[in-house]
Amino acid sequence: MAKEKKDIISRRSIIKAGVGLGALGLSSKSLLAKEANNKNLPPNVPEWTETLGDGVDVNPYGMPTEFESNVIRRNVEWLTASTESSVNFTPLQDLEGIVTPNGLCFERHHGGTAIINPVDYRLMINGLVDREMIFTLDDLKRFPQVNKFYFLECAANGGMEWKGSQLNGCQYTFGMVHNVQYTGVKLSDLIQETGLKNNAKWVLAEGSDSSGMTRSIPIEKIKDDCIIAWAMNGEALRPEQGYPIRLVVPGWEGNMWVKWLRRIEFGDKPYMTREETSKYTDLLSDGKARMFTWVMDTKSVITSPCPEKPVLQKGIHQIRGLAWSGRGKIKRVDVSLDGGKNWKTAQLHSPVLEKSLTRFTIPFEWNGEEMLLQSRAIDETNYVQPTIKELQNIRGVNSIYHNNSIATWLISKNGKVDNVRLG
Ligand code: MTE
Ligand code: CO
Repeated sequence: MAKEKKDIISRRSIIKAGVGLGALGLSSKSLLAKEANNKNLPPNVPEWTETLGDGVDVNPYGMPTEFESNVIRRNVEWLTASTESSVNFTPLQDLEGIVTPNGLCFERHHGGTAIINPVDYRLMINGLVDREMIFTLDDLKRFPQVNKFYFLECAANGGMEWKGSQLNGCQYTFGMVHNVQYTGVKLSDLIQETGLKNNAKWVLAEGSDSSGMTRSIPIEKIKDDCIIAWAMNGEALRPEQGYPIRLVVPGWEGNMWVKWLRRIEFGDKPYMTREETSKYTDLLSDGKARMFTWVMDTKSVITSPCPEKPVLQKGIHQIRGLAWSGRGKIKRVDVSLDGGKNWKTAQLHSPVLEKSLTRFTIPFEWNGEEMLLQSRAIDETNYVQPTIKELQNIRGVNSIYHNNSIATWLISKNGKVDNVRLG
C-alpha cells in the first residue's frame, strides 16, 4: 500500500506553490509547540493554581487568550496595494465547527470601512414600488425576524490559483469565506410594506461607503431568501461587515452582499453597474465573458493538515475540513490520500445546513510517507466539485473568479505540508 502511494507521487509532476510560509510572516517555529515549563507539569502544582486569577472587570469585552495570538486575519502584501481597497483572509485552519467568530471574518472592501452612527442610519426603498419608504434601524427591527446561518464567499476566493499553485497556505487559498448566523428581516417582508409594481423585476442594492458599491439582483432571489441583517453571531454587525445593516444574499457571490446598505431600488432590468460589467464577470478562453455568475458552486477544503498545520508525529490523525454549496446542502464529502486515485467518504457533522459551511472529518494514519490529500464535495443537487483540469477545460484560465476546484496538499516525509498542483 505504502509503495503504491509512493509510485503515484513519483509518476506525477508536482508543482509547489511559489510563496512559502516564511514570506507570509508565518515561521514554522511559531506553528510548533513551544517547550513546556516542567514546574507546571504533573505531579507538580502549576503556578496558575497558586495565585488568584484576573477579576471579572479586566475584560468588559472578552478577548481570545494571548496564546492564540497567531489566530488572526491576514493579508497578502502583494495583493494589498492600499488597505482601503483590499482583502484579508479568514484563518480557516485554526477554526472548529462551522461558526466563524466575528473578529476573524475576512474583510473585503473597495473604499474602506464606513463608520456609521445608527441614529444617522436610514434605508431607502424606491423605484417601481407602490409606496417609496425610508426606514430607521428601529423601524426595521419591528418586523418579524429570522436567524439563519449562511456562508459568504468572495467570488475571487482561490482566484490566484487558476494557473497553478501560488500561495502556500489554507488561509490564503480558501480564506475568503466566512459563516455566521445572521439576524434580520426578510426582504420579502419589507416588500409587503412598500408594495411592488408589476414590472418590478430587478433590484439595485447600493452601499453607502465611499466605494458606492452597487449590484443588480433579480426579483426572484429577493423574494426567495434575501435578508436585511443587523446582527451576526448574536451581536450587532461589526463595522467592517457593514454595521448597521448589510444585505445577505444566501449562496451567491460575496460581492452582492452589499454592506452599509443605504438604498434598494426596484427596476425592470439589470442596472449593469461597474461591479457587474467591468468586474465580477468571468473571461473565457474565446474572449467572451460569462455574465451574472451569481451562485457559488460546491467547494471544500481540508483545513488540517494543511500548509499551516504540518503533521507533527506518526500515527492516527483526524483530517478536518469544510464544505459548502450555494445551491443547498452538502450531501457527501470524499477524501483522497493519493491525489484522487482512491476516495473514502468523510463523516459530516451536524448541523448540515443549506448554503452554510459544513464540517467534515475522517481519521487517517501517517507512517512518515508522502501523501497527496484532496477533498471533493457533492451537494444535494448531485453537483460534484471538479478537478482544476475539468474546470480549466470549460473556463480556461483567464478569470480570477469562481475557482471551486479540488486543491491538493502534499505531505512530505518530514511532515511538512505544501499546496501543490498535480501535472
Ligand atoms: N459592500 C460595500 N458597500 N462595499 C464593498 O466594498 N465588498 C463586497 C461585499 N459588499 C463591499 C460590499 C465584496 S467583494 C465582498 S466579497 C463582501 O462584501 C465581503 O464581505 P465581508 O467584508 O463581510 O467579508
Ligand atoms: Co468579493
